[in-house]
Amino acid sequence: MTEETAPYGGGTATPAAPAPTPRKIRTHHLREMKERGERWAMLTAYDMYAAEVFDAAGIPVLLVGDSAANNVYGYDSSLPVTVDELVPLVRAVTGASSRALVVADLPFGSYQGSAQQAYETGVRFMKEGRAHAVKLEGGAEMTPQIEILARGGVPVMAHIGFTPQSEHALGGYRVQGRGETAARILADARAVQEAGAFAVVMEMVPGDVAAEVTKELLIPTVGIGAGSGCDAQVLVWQDMMGLRSGRMPRFVKQYADLRGVMTDAARAYAADVAAGTFPAEEHTF
Ligand code: KIV
Repeated sequence: MTEETAPYGGGTATPAAPAPTPRKIRTHHLREMKERGERWAMLTAYDMYAAEVFDAAGIPVLLVGDSAANNVYGYDSSLPVTVDELVPLVRAVTGASSRALVVADLPFGSYQGSAQQAYETGVRFMKEGRAHAVKLEGGAEMTPQIEILARGGVPVMAHIGFTPQSEHALGGYRVQGRGETAARILADARAVQEAGAFAVVMEMVPGDVAAEVTKELLIPTVGIGAGSGCDAQVLVWQDMMGLRSGRMPRFVKQYADLRGVMTDAARAYAADVAAGTFPAEEHTF
């Protein structure tokens, strides 16, 4: 027995070697990161360049969210976006990333009908989009969908708490799991883990409830507006990089001002064209 594996003290402790960096992130790596207490970040991505940049930056999980509805197609909610609209975006993201695990969001109406419908939609994202996993919204009521997908080779990330596809049923954008309804969040989290989900997103859930769920579950929790007690965090990239304008949810931290950078670049270009300084000699054949 080596010192590292000896169950009790007595020898000189050799520090554990850092975990090797996986060439490709798989679902079991995320679980191992939880076991080691390593937190990780997930970002949305909907196109080749964003995927390439985030993958190279070491973001382990990229989500082609149904938030593409707002951030790509300009709809006023995620409800109208279709599988046909999302599949090409997923293919662009998987094609441009070499290390990240790419998760495709199942859009509203493409899985709630039945487990069979969920399976067929999941398979489309895996075959046509080359996704590595799918995400769906819902807790205990979605266990038949999660079970059939997970058993059929489609890894599932669940999404509980505030679920934007149920915006109208939930009465708008509201924190879920306050007071007595905290038990419901815990029950949903347990149910999706039991059904075979490899991770669970918790959106707009009180920090203490999310922390309790995180302690209780074996699978990683991914928070968005759920405090710092989760195993991972996710943000929409246009929000955190300051490309989107307008009122931002309280849980967003802005890390850049891409809107400002792009506005300045567009104005400088237009001014050069108006002044006749672009194209210059070096841009001309
Ligand atoms: O669609 C999305 O972007 C999401 C995340 C914000 C969790 O579901």
